[in-house]
Amino acid sequence: MSNNKLLNVIFISMLASFVFGASFEPACARNKLVIQADLGRETIDKNIYGHFSEHLGRCVYEGYWVGEDSPIPNTRGIRNDVVEALKKIKVPVLRWPGGCFADEYHWKDGIGPRENRPSMINTHWGGVTENNHFGTHEFLDLCEQIGCEPFITGNVGSGTVQELSEWVEYVNFDGVSPMADLRRKNGREEPWRVKYWGVGNENWGCGGQMRPEYYVDVYRRFQTYVRDYPDADTFKVACGPYGEDIKWMEVMMKNVEKGMMRGLDLHYYCGSGEDSRSATKFEEVDWFHQLRRAMRLDEIITTQSNIMDRYDPKKRIALIVGEWGAWHDVESGTNEGFLYQQNSLRDAMVAGVSLNIMNNHCERVRMGNIAQTVNVLQAMILTDGAKMILTPSYHVFDSYKVHHDATLLPADLECEDYRFDEDRIPGLNVSASQDESGKIHISICNMNPNDDAELICEIRGAKVGRIIGKVLTAPEITSHNTFDNPEVVKPSDFDEYRKTQNGFKTTLPAKSIVVFEIESGE
Ligand code: AHR
Repeated sequence: MSNNKLLNVIFISMLASFVFGASFEPACARNKLVIQADLGRETIDKNIYGHFSEHLGRCVYEGYWVGEDSPIPNTRGIRNDVVEALKKIKVPVLRWPGGCFADEYHWKDGIGPRENRPSMINTHWGGVTENNHFGTHEFLDLCEQIGCEPFITGNVGSGTVQELSEWVEYVNFDGVSPMADLRRKNGREEPWRVKYWGVGNENWGCGGQMRPEYYVDVYRRFQTYVRDYPDADTFKVACGPYGEDIKWMEVMMKNVEKGMMRGLDLHYYCGSGEDSRSATKFEEVDWFHQLRRAMRLDEIITTQSNIMDRYDPKKRIALIVGEWGAWHDVESGTNEGFLYQQNSLRDAMVAGVSLNIMNNHCERVRMGNIAQTVNVLQAMILTDGAKMILTPSYHVFDSYKVHHDATLLPADLECEDYRFDEDRIPGLNVSASQDESGKIHISICNMNPNDDAELICEIRGAKVGRIIGKVLTAPEITSHNTFDNPEVVKPSDFDEYRKTQNGFKTTLPAKSIVVFEIESGE
């Protein structure tokens, strides 16, 4: 080729690349995402973005409940700042009162005038005295203030069938009955009509140390008396397995008829780092292994869904990930039993990856409840007296809320690995959806803490219009928000992308979570 011809070729390809962007990218681009905008079928149930709050440490008391006489601004004893923050991320459903606490909670101790309520020992969590000031009415008031559905877990481990049955009657029955009348006497005329009822919690462990063969019959018996009252149908949730305990799943699916169980509650915590269990003092080895364990949720859901498919091919029974998240050592100087931990960019990455995984399994996973909303484990919010801060994980729930009830879009990702020592995991993790207005949202985690990732995204079946990006990242993998410095990790606008003929090309910063919004073009 003469020099002139060569210059022409270079000029034309530069011009084409300017005009059409990625369609003229070299074929060797290593990160490639293809979104099939016309092939969406399943809905991402917004309840995947649910939360879990237990009578544990400072979650309920201090986190939500400060009492009517508190100087902290509150509505009927529930702090306003926390409610406002949770409204902003559109919490769809809240699981309560436990956790392990649920199987030793006697709900009648938590109703009526507060000064008359008996106290109990919270044996699981720090051995502290629980004064029962936050009970059924307060919890359901909290849900009404947030605007979310309640999900109540009944006591199977140390409670009776009658106790659970009466709780449902108290909360859901509109007619004349001993429990409905008691509710009215305690100031609530209308029933709350709570839909989601858990029949025990972790009954293979703290909820009674049961074998699956035993629990399955206990479940059948208890659920019989979780009655559907007029206009108050229940969605009964059985205790599910931990992680990949396939025996528990098999026994439950084989021995419970569909009409008796609408959901199974799987729990999975991805632990902490490898060499350090600190929430904020850790190295890359800890980052890598934590994220690798977070990614295992995908295999766990696949394995458990395969068992469910054998008994329930039409996927009528929901898999609920009723407790999930990172579990670090408590912050120094705090009660070991209170599970108070800080929350860094690594936790945000755990949240981003886990939510993408659940989105991608939305044909079976129809609820998730991160543990636990305020001041406990992977919290959204930390409080210190009247002060409140939002954690990096909160910001992920905020930016991912665009996926609520949207249609999942098939997203085929080819990506480079993130290598650490001799090990590797995929560098990127993604999910995509289309909302009612036609906007496409893509959430992408770049788990590599060292390298930016160039990505070419092709969108098939839709014209690409305006693109908006938001990014969550921080200077260090350990970056976190404190009461003195609450905005170290916070989202910002992201404009490192360029539209192409049929999508866009972007450079995702190392250790970042980016959410793109794509309007449809002409
Ligand atoms: O979330 C803390 C505890 O973890 C819950 O009480 C229990 O269900 C799980 O083991």
